[in-house]
Amino acid sequence: MQHVPVNASSAYPVYIGGGLLEKAGELIAASTQSHTCAIITDTTVGPLYAAQVCRALQEAGMAVSLHAFPAGEQNKNLGTYGAILEFLAENKLTRSDFLIALGGGVVGDIAGFAAATYQRGIGYIQMPTTFLAASDSSVGGKTAIDLAAGKNLAGAFHQPDMVICDTDTFRTLPDAVFSDGVAETVKHGLIADADFYQSLMAGDIRAQIDDVVRRNVEIKASVVGEDEFERGRRKLLNFGHTLGHAIEKCSGYGVTHGHAVGIGMALACRAAERLGYSPAGTLDAVLAANGRFGLPVQCPYGADELYNAATGDKKRDGGSIDVVVLEEIGRAKTVRLDMDGLRAFTEAAL
Ligand code: NAD
Ligand code: GLY
Repeated sequence: MQHVPVNASSAYPVYIGGGLLEKAGELIAASTQSHTCAIITDTTVGPLYAAQVCRALQEAGMAVSLHAFPAGEQNKNLGTYGAILEFLAENKLTRSDFLIALGGGVVGDIAGFAAATYQRGIGYIQMPTTFLAASDSSVGGKTAIDLAAGKNLAGAFHQPDMVICDTDTFRTLPDAVFSDGVAETVKHGLIADADFYQSLMAGDIRAQIDDVVRRNVEIKASVVGEDEFERGRRKLLNFGHTLGHAIEKCSGYGVTHGHAVGIGMALACRAAERLGYSPAGTLDAVLAANGRFGLPVQCPYGADELYNAATGDKKRDGGSIDVVVLEEIGRAKTVRLDMDGLRAFTEAAL
């Protein structure tokens, strides 16, 4: 088992390794006084892993309730969030009890938001079961739901108390879902660690999965430790996301988050090179990674559609928006654009 500490406004451990679902009871019991929790999962992950986690927790002396909502980004919404809150109230969870988010990033984001708001905030533990959730969304405390107007438009910063990542769960992931995590992993290399990017390009991610997750978590923990509330450095984690979120929204969430980020990174690099923010070669690095890992590069939408979707993005701040561009492989910066600048950036991206 590997262990990465996160030091944000609260400190918590991230445990990474095979077989950790079985150990969840002892890991959690050793760090909490509470004996009551609710597992929040989705209808795909629940039948695969919830019984195992329930058993491990019950053997550690805990009372466990279970709520599963229909899988998919289209359900990361107010209705699902409300149903989770009602479930918690019906099961009489108190402020000293806690939630477990068992699943991918959708489960982690919505269960985390429920934990942030139920009775003005209770504890929760992230148990990511996708490569993306393990490598990105389970760490750092961003929780959210989507609104009709766009992605993640309601949410809260609420750090988990612990992250338990059983990398054996990735064995049941469809290849396309696994590759969503590859996109965020490539992103971490491109913005923060050129050697990591090169090692991904040369190596076999699945064969080194625990180490790859650990390096992702180390990068994310370093950024979040410095800038938990995204006033500065954390914005760099949004590389590929301004146009990526626009693609997700335009597709009605038919294009998954990781795939949209893969396309969004290519679009950002093309625009940044054409507009002189990035040196030549950054687009080639993204295209090479997307090609190697089966991620898409073509954007199915035109500049008007993308621009209209992007102007609803929460990264917008009044009349301006920060987009992330690469200074070189392994180093990124933000560029502040007004709305005319964003339109020019979007047109240059295609
Ligand atoms: P997801 O949660 O929708 O999972 C993808 C699919 O895989 C779902 O159908 C799910 O049921 C299924 N699944 C999950 N684990 C499985 C397993 N072990 N075996 C088989 N099937 C499994 O998608 P995701 O890619 O994990 O997460 C994407 C979400 O994460 C988006 O909503 C995105 O906005 C969010 N996100 C949040 C942050 C953050 O910092 N909070 C960062 C990145 C992404
Ligand atoms: N995934 C972006 C962030 O956590 O800030």
